[in-house]
Amino acid sequence: MTASPATTDADTAPAPAPATAVIGSGRMGDALVRLLAPHRPGLIWSGRDPQRLTARVAELGHTGVVDTADHTTAVHRADLVVLALWHRHALDFVRTHGEALAGKTVVDLANPFTDDFQGFALPETTSAAEQLAAAAPRARIVGALKNTFWAVLEDPALPGGPSDVLVTGDHQQAKEQVMSLLAPLPFRCLDAGALANSRTVERMTLLSREIAVRYDHYPRTTWRLLGAKA
Ligand SMILES: NC(=O)c1ccc[n+]([C@@H]2O[C@H](COP(=O)([O-])OP(=O)(O)OC[C@H]3O[C@@H](n4cnc5c(N)ncnc54)[C@H](OP(=O)(O)O)[C@@H]3O)[C@@H](O)[C@H]2O)c1
Repeated sequence: MTASPATTDADTAPAPAPATAVIGSGRMGDALVRLLAPHRPGLIWSGRDPQRLTARVAELGHTGVVDTADHTTAVHRADLVVLALWHRHALDFVRTHGEALAGKTVVDLANPFTDDFQGFALPETTSAAEQLAAAAPRARIVGALKNTFWAVLEDPALPGGPSDVLVTGDHQQAKEQVMSLLAPLPFRCLDAGALANSRTVERMTLLSREIAVRYDHYPRTTWRLLGAKA
């Protein structure tokens, strides 16, 4: 009779966090790196000018915690790639790096608003997230943070408790990876179902913007679904 192998620490240890990259250093990229750096050592930050990002990392006091890299290196090193880019640039990005992104989780933040923020650049039968999935069919696209305006990402504390981040996607494991990435941040992450639900999230986000502008609290505006358990 063969003895069953003893359980080791390695069997029970949680899976290591996937190597993570944030692409883009605008309002969303910069705020996200600042929020994630303490929780994801080795975070990779990538932009068109990695040297400028290295200087910014030093300014933030994250030298040795956040690595900077060009786009190609970042995509090769990371298993989870957050695109803090406008929709048209996100599309270009996944088309350029499609092979390297195969099997990886790609987070789409983009809202496909027109340049004057008055309407949508896409018909209501689709969403930026779905367009990204069509452009990179081998990547696992997850929508998140679309409804989190930059001023809230920079300073999340608001009366009424943590705001909701709605996470959409058709790959459950990829969605869970993203929810784990965001879990230490001061938000409440809600699984918002299929990637196609991004259509609603993107459109609700434009409506919240319009209302916040009308009532003079844009861009410090966000959502919290009442009644949901914390
Ligand atoms: N702003 C918000 O409140 C908010 C809220 C929710 C979702 N979003 C979404 O988040 C995304 C980013 O918004 P943002 O406000 O952070 O924009 P942003 O401040 O304009 O930053 C976008 C970044 O994209 C990179 N970029 C610019 N041109 C590029 C190009 N031709 N090719 C590749 N990369 C380019 C730049 O980073 P590098 O110079 O480092 O390459 C730039 O800093 C958008 O899709 C937006 O819809 C924004």
